[in-house]
Amino acid sequence: MNLKSRDSFSGKFGVIAAAAGSAVGLGNIWRFPYVVGENGGGAFLLVYLLFIAAIGIPVMVSELLIGRRSQKNVFGAFKTLAPDKPLFMIVGIMGVGAAFMILAFYSVVAGWTLEYTYMAIGNNLLDMSSAQLSSFFKNFSESKTGPVIWMIIFMFLTAAIVIGGIKKGIERYTKILMPILLVIIIILCVNSAMLEGAGEGFAFLFKPDFSKVTGSVILEALGQAFFSLSIGMGVIATYGSYIQKKENLLNTAISVSIADTLIAVLAGVAIFPAVFAFNIDPSAGPGLVFETLPNVFNQMTGGYAFSVAFFLLLVIAALTSSVSLLEVVVAYFSEELGMRRVVATIVAASVITLLGVLCVVYSSVFKFFDFTSSNILLPLGGIFIAIFVGWILGKQKTKDELEAHGGKVRFVGILMIILKVVAPVAIGFVFLKGIGLL
Ligand code: PFF
Repeated sequence: MNLKSRDSFSGKFGVIAAAAGSAVGLGNIWRFPYVVGENGGGAFLLVYLLFIAAIGIPVMVSELLIGRRSQKNVFGAFKTLAPDKPLFMIVGIMGVGAAFMILAFYSVVAGWTLEYTYMAIGNNLLDMSSAQLSSFFKNFSESKTGPVIWMIIFMFLTAAIVIGGIKKGIERYTKILMPILLVIIIILCVNSAMLEGAGEGFAFLFKPDFSKVTGSVILEALGQAFFSLSIGMGVIATYGSYIQKKENLLNTAISVSIADTLIAVLAGVAIFPAVFAFNIDPSAGPGLVFETLPNVFNQMTGGYAFSVAFFLLLVIAALTSSVSLLEVVVAYFSEELGMRRVVATIVAASVITLLGVLCVVYSSVFKFFDFTSSNILLPLGGIFIAIFVGWILGKQKTKDELEAHGGKVRFVGILMIILKVVAPVAIGFVFLKGIGLL
């Protein structure tokens, strides 16, 4: 595909909105709070923030520039930029594999959010007690038919947007809806903070207890950082290939990372005070958001409207992330294997739907996909991406690409040190420690 016929984002805000649309999703609002809850709270948050700043942003810039320089899907990108280094094509393959795995369990959770939207619209959430909400979630998520149907509907919506193409499909929705989601979360934070017993939740989230930090906690934080920023598997590289030369990639990466982190932390602030106020176990796992937030809606004025708006926007946040995942597979199928876009989309979405059914039926498959993609494939992808830009592309080309918009970019020296040494060593260490090999 040549430059002219390649679809592109229309401008600065469009680029940030689309990349932030990929980054902000269930990872922030569903996964982040429950992973924080399972890993002891404040200390996890600190480690997480450190990873975002020191490793997440550099890897995100790297992906953006790999994509924009090559104008290719993630697999083709490495092939174009370093034709004599076939090893790096592994990243492309791992990325496509991770997209399949993530989308399989992601669409199941997105299906839960559809069910909750439906429940919220019918005003069925607001009259449940905290205990009833917990058992409702348990019964629903352990049933088969409902979750499978909602998951299929979600995959269908994802595929429909991807068939529509990048600019028309993805950019249009994110630009308007993400800011509305932010406003709703802030309002939820205020309401949650006013609950009796909220202080305990704040202490849990913000007062670090370092005795809780173990190798596996650190690996979870790293995995969550990669998952939340959508990095390590080529989504951001694929989006980078749709970004015009006039955009400043470093600023884009920083803005997207800040927006993503802000939403995750705000989700934590909305959830943890309520978790403690309503006596929910912070380590309740994947049901945490679904069991907690309806209690907050119950207590607030306008609870009905907020509950509908919140779950609906969560569905949309999930959609803007799931389209980015499917796009990785579709770009690969269509550009490398020569499939037509529509065919590629239908084939990929169908296979993922089948994997999603497996996730519904066997919770061990769900957990396996979740753990393997976030804590293994994405960090490994991150190592390769950092090494590729640091050692193979090198400083001059990196600088050229980062300054292609015509301005000067500072910190390229520091970025190169991080990419060459700090990120690969740190990720490698955390990875080996986390899986118990060190
Ligand atoms: N970052 C998305 C979220 O936080 O919901 C999920 C995700 C999208 C992960 C794309 C990985 C990815 F490549």
